[in-house]
Amino acid sequence: MKETLEQIRQAALAALAQAGDAQALDAVRVKYLGKKGELTGLLKQMGKLSAEERPVIGQLANQVREEITQAVEQRGEALEHAALEARLAEETLDVTIPGRRPELGHQHPMSIVLDELKEIFVGMGFQIAEGPEVELADYNFTKLNTEEGHPAREWSDTFYIKEDSSLLLRTQTSPMQVRTMEQQPLPIRVVAPGRVYRKDEVDATHSPMFHQIEGLVVDKGITMADLKGTLNAALKALYGPETVTRFRPHHFPFTEPSCEVDVQCHACGGKGCRVCKGEGWIEVLGAGMVHPKVLQGVGIDTDVYSGWAFGMGVERLVMRRFGITDLRLIFENDTRFLSQF
Ligand code: DAH
Repeated sequence: MKETLEQIRQAALAALAQAGDAQALDAVRVKYLGKKGELTGLLKQMGKLSAEERPVIGQLANQVREEITQAVEQRGEALEHAALEARLAEETLDVTIPGRRPELGHQHPMSIVLDELKEIFVGMGFQIAEGPEVELADYNFTKLNTEEGHPAREWSDTFYIKEDSSLLLRTQTSPMQVRTMEQQPLPIRVVAPGRVYRKDEVDATHSPMFHQIEGLVVDKGITMADLKGTLNAALKALYGPETVTRFRPHHFPFTEPSCEVDVQCHACGGKGCRVCKGEGWIEVLGAGMVHPKVLQGVGIDTDVYSGWAFGMGVERLVMRRFGITDLRLIFENDTRFLSQF
């Protein structure tokens, strides 16, 4: 029996050394230490031994069981440790790999110029107003002294939203003049930037959606001199201190007198070139003294108050500011274009 115990011991230890995972280890444990295991089986035969042999073999058997039990524990720990090491090695992070940079967005060229415009006018004491792009024909036309039947109200030029021509996409920011005068106490100094819509074919200089900024001043004793002074200051801030301007008589239904303002061509200095189409001047805005009918329409006493207004397209400013030659680029939102700003 002594030899058998010795064999069991060696076989068990060898099998433990071979056990590659927890499952294999448990199989070895059961095989040698389990209730039906080899060691248990052997101990059941102890009764056959002589009285002298029994304690000796008993002690040896206990020793072997103890040894195998310990070896099982040790092997178990070793396997656990190895498994952990393997997992750590597998999950290693290389902290030296450069991170992925989040792509930062930035302002659209149109927003850059709109912000500049607002800053210029806020600096001169103007407030900023915003109003609806879906507008009542009343505000877009009628209250701006553009009665029904006026050619500016043709369906061919305007995106109407209702069959009865009462609702439309605003064709100009000028309705903000009326909205502001209806809502705000006098005096008024306000600019209203925003999108406007006209049925234009798309080409290098036209788009059915574009931007305007409207300006309105109403106070006691306001004259054409205020209009000229303010617009000259604004245009110099926009186009540079050397900018030369020209105020040309014009007609708008909601101003009287009305004018258009040109800046001398920056490319040729007024001689005439391709940029100004040989004119020497580039038209930048429409303006005028607010028509008494418009003021009276919102209940302002024209014996006491007068005002001036202007409306300026913004796309042309953006194009000149950034040297853009095709207006469509501003709206296509091609990131190859936008990423340049
Ligand atoms: N709303 C006009 C347009 O779109 C521009 C304009 C002209 C605005 C004269 C004004 C103004 O405020 O006084 O063509």
